[in-house]
Order: sequence, then structure tokens, then C-alpha cells
Amino acid sequence: MNMQVSRRLERFSSAMFFELNQLKQQLRANGTEVIDLGIGSPDLPPPPHVIEALTEAVCDPSVYGYPTSEGSPFFRQAVADWYKKRFDVELDPSTECMALMGSQDGLSHLSLTLVDPGDYVLVPDPGYPIYEVSIHLADGRPYLMPLLETNDFLPDFSKIPPEVAQRAKYMILNYPNNPVTAVAERSFYEQAVSFAKLYDILIVSDIAYSELAFDGFKPISILQIDGAKDVAVEFHSLSKSFNMAGCRIGYAAGNREALQALAVVKSNIDYGVFTAVQKAGAAALTGDPSHTAHMSETYRKRRDVLLDGLKRIGWDIPKPQATMFVWAKIPIPMTSRKFTKELLAQTGVAVVPGVGFGEQGEGYVRIALVQPEEKLQEVVARIEKSGILKKN
Ligand SMILES: Cc1ncc(COP(=O)(O)O)c(C=O)c1O
Repeated sequence: MNMQVSRRLERFSSAMFFELNQLKQQLRANGTEVIDLGIGSPDLPPPPHVIEALTEAVCDPSVYGYPTSEGSPFFRQAVADWYKKRFDVELDPSTECMALMGSQDGLSHLSLTLVDPGDYVLVPDPGYPIYEVSIHLADGRPYLMPLLETNDFLPDFSKIPPEVAQRAKYMILNYPNNPVTAVAERSFYEQAVSFAKLYDILIVSDIAYSELAFDGFKPISILQIDGAKDVAVEFHSLSKSFNMAGCRIGYAAGNREALQALAVVKSNIDYGVFTAVQKAGAAALTGDPSHTAHMSETYRKRRDVLLDGLKRIGWDIPKPQATMFVWAKIPIPMTSRKFTKELLAQTGVAVVPGVGFGEQGEGYVRIALVQPEEKLQEVVARIEKSGILKKN
């Protein structure tokens, strides 16, 4: 058969990641131990009480029917309670909280809910790839908001042309940010809410990394800003905060019209999150909050081991205040793609080229802190031995 895939699919292809994966496989086949700091999949386990809740739930025969796509009342209540406890934000669990099969589910389907062909969506560049891909799914037009170091990696709303803002359906913000690791303060969210109200744009705030913060920094929710619920919906994930990436559970909270519309799309596509997984998710959200503090401390130590080590050998990278990543400027004159390939070939250390997150990511690589401290020490040793930082 001469299969003709859709033109849309061409925008999904990622030759670069395919190439890097092949290189990793080749190295492994030749006996190199690859230290993978590429994908941001947590290597740590969920808290024990979450595994216990899941184990107990899967033994309950009543959880095996279809769940509902918007989530069970007990899970939505747990989300509302968590928002109250963590951010002092009041949410109505039945209209302002909704379960998702990971925040990716919400991020990918929201475009089908709000975007007509030709509509603009304002997305950060660099940005987590699904933001832009989901717009193409709905035949919308991404308008890329550059995240520049000179503006603390925040979008500059004054640079968005009014004719674009007038035709934009929503804007994605992601702080603490993947990949650039930047954080946002209250004043930034206040500006964002004013801008959204001026142009009647929904804000989608992705806080997948809100619980991974260091050195006393505590990320806030956009829903803490007065009037934010009129214009904002927030996506949060249990993947990183509770190491439940494989469980596929997250949620949306905030603007009820947006959630209602998303529920219509999702009720035609899926049947929701397995009830046993929702029970585990509720246990995570209502359980002892010291787990996240402990986990952040683990990432903080990893950050320090890696960045202090790299600084010692001549690669000075600013320490992030949050996330499980490091956003590192490439210290030699080489594109991010070439540097990533050279680094992998010469040291067996896998990272992600910044350009994989958008044009503005060129010149950087993203390093995920998903290996124990000893491995990160070895990363430093391998990089030093290779001499790659001295080449130009
Ligand atoms: C910024 C950001 N948003 C959303 C997601 C998706 O997370 P989930 O596992 O909840 O679908 C990720 C995953 O890496 C992410 O980095």
C-alpha cells in the first residue's frame, strides 16, 4: 500500500531525536555505558503511601468499570483541597477541577476545544514541544513569544502585535519553566492577567514543576492573582511532583468555561483515568507534604554536584531555582545539535539540544538531573577527560 500520511504529521516528525536515539543505541551496542540526562522522566519512586493506595485500589473489584473523563468526585475534591493548602486558592471541585491523563492530555486537547483554523495561539519559544504541536493539530497558528535571557526568560507582552493578540485564543505560560528553568514572580502573573483581560485571551498556566524548587524559593499559582479565574486555567501534573509519570495522571483547575469545553472534547475521546490511579493520585495530593521537600532536596544536591563540578572544569552554568533541569549555554562555538552529538559520541553523556525546543533554544542544551549524584560526578569526569570544552 502506498500510505499517504496527513500533511499535519510532517510537523510532528523529529528527525533530530530519532538520530540521537540511534546514536545512543549504537554506543550501547559497542559497549559504552550511556549516561542519559535527556528525557525528563523521574528516576525516583513515588512516596510509599502512594504505592500502598494504588496496591489497595487495584485489589478492589469495583474500580474496573469505565471512569468518567472529567475524573471522580473524590479526586477532584483532593485537587481542590491541595490548592487550598498549597496556594490558599478556593476551587469548586465539581466545576473548577478536572482529572487529566497527565497534563499532556489537557495541553494536547485544549487546542481542539478553542482553536479554529487560522486562529493564533501565543506560545513560548523555547517551549515544551506539545504546546506548538497541539496548535497544528487544530490547524491554528502559533505566535512564538521569545524567552530571552535579557528579559529573565519571560515573554515581553509589549512586543506582541495588537493584531495578533486580538486574534489569539490562548497563551501558554510555563513557570517554573521547561526547558529554560526560569521562574515567575507575582508581578509577572499580574501583568499576564491584565494582558489577557485586555485582549480576551485565555491563559494556560502549566505548573508541572511547581513542587521542585530550591534554596527557599516557593513557586506560586496564577490562580492566586485577583480575578485570574476569569481568564486562566492551570495544568498540573503528578508526574514530577510525586514521581508518577507512568501512571498518567494530572489535572486542570480554574476557569470553569474552559474546563467545561475541554470536558466535551475529552468525553468524545477518552473514558478518563483508571479509578485506581485516581485513588493513588488523591493519596499523593492529600498525603504528607514533606515528600516534595525531600525530593526537591535530592534535585538540589544533584544540581550542585553537577554544576560545581562543571564550573571547576571551565563550564560555568547559573544554578536554577527550580525544575529538574539545567539550561546550559554551550561553551564552545558549535550549534546545539552538533554539540549534543559530539558530547554523546565522545563521552556517552546524552542531553537534549536546545534547538529541539524552538529556534530561541539554539546555543543551549538541556540537561535533566535524572541520575544519582555518583553518575553526575562521572559525567563531569568524562567531560573533563574528553577535552570537548577546549575545542573550537
Ligand atoms: C512543561 C511540561 N508540561 C507538561 C508535561 C507533561 O507532563 P505529564 O506527564 O503530566 O503529561 C511535561 C513533561 O515533561 C513538561 O515538561
